[in-house]
Amino acid sequence: MVDGTPLLSIENLAVTFRTPGGLVTPVPDVSLSVQAGERVALVGESGCGKSVTALSITALPPTDRAIRTGKILFKGCNLIDQPEALREARRHGIAYVFQDPMASLNPVIRLADQIGEVLPPMSKEAKRDRILSLLADVGLPDPVRAASAYPCELSGGQCQRVMLAMALAAEPQLLVADEPTTALDVTTQRKILGLMDRLARERQMALLLITHNLGIVASYMERLYVMYAGRIVESGTVKEVLSDPHHPYTRGLLAAVPSLKLERTQLQDIPGTVPPPGRFPPGCAFAPRCSHATPACSQAVPPLYVRDERAVRCPNV
Ligand SMILES: Nc1ncnc2c1ncn2[C@@H]1O[C@H](COP(=O)(O)OP(=O)(O)O)[C@@H](O)[C@H]1O
Ligand SMILES: [Mg+2]
Repeated sequence: MVDGTPLLSIENLAVTFRTPGGLVTPVPDVSLSVQAGERVALVGESGCGKSVTALSITALPPTDRAIRTGKILFKGCNLIDQPEALREARRHGIAYVFQDPMASLNPVIRLADQIGEVLPPMSKEAKRDRILSLLADVGLPDPVRAASAYPCELSGGQCQRVMLAMALAAEPQLLVADEPTTALDVTTQRKILGLMDRLARERQMALLLITHNLGIVASYMERLYVMYAGRIVESGTVKEVLSDPHHPYTRGLLAAVPSLKLERTQLQDIPGTVPPPGRFPPGCAFAPRCSHATPACSQAVPPLYVRDERAVRCPNV
């Protein structure tokens, strides 16, 4: 890990929504950090609070209406209570790519105009050059054609490249990619991930990648956080965590991944499902699904046991 102040440091973030049924807290306590230029993955089953955490960083909807407590330090400034730092982070510091590029693009506006909207003020010619160079950077074979196209004229993979171009337009120091390839076929997934990896390295841009795909994590990422019920349950280098997972939840996630080496072994699903917020069990939220659980697990949320770069929220491993 790189030394020094992290680019992003989320400290004990809790996110609470007001709903007709009362307050719900899908993310009770998350801490994670990303160093400048680092590639960090956040994994966990659907409903664990990954997107809520990611959107909370710059208070994107629906988290703009949520109650956020804790700290979200970006370059040392707390984005939760410093509106100017938040504006600056949204303008130049942090960009996002989401799952469904078609849903993020306006279907009736040509792509050049959509990219142009996110560029800072400049002459018309400079803008055109910048748009074409961004479209070339993200590997579109014919940037001139893509610039004048409407979203429906491009494939899903090409649209995700355009979304990436729009994210890069602000020259962010951190790109948050929330399942950016889940909607794409496997070959296109690899290409887009390879592209993001290359762009991040070339631009010294940090990457916070949310994904279900542990194969992608193994190929491209340096450090990994595993999330369950709005808390980090394990973190460490990708190599260490994937080769020797400690937390029973991480082990369960890995056992559910098909591997060529395991072709004769049955894949093991984790029994049960992620509890909805508001119905998190007391103590360790994973205890009801955990084969290692003891009565003590349901008494109090276990602390994070930290050794070197490894942290595990379980006393039984
Ligand atoms: N606006 C909201 N109001 C209330 N609950 C929400 C809201 N947005 C998300 N949630 C809840 O937060 C939980 C975590 O969601 P999410 O972060 O999207 O999970 P993930 O990205 O890990 O699949 C879900 O149970 C979801 O229902
Ligand atoms: Mg999500």
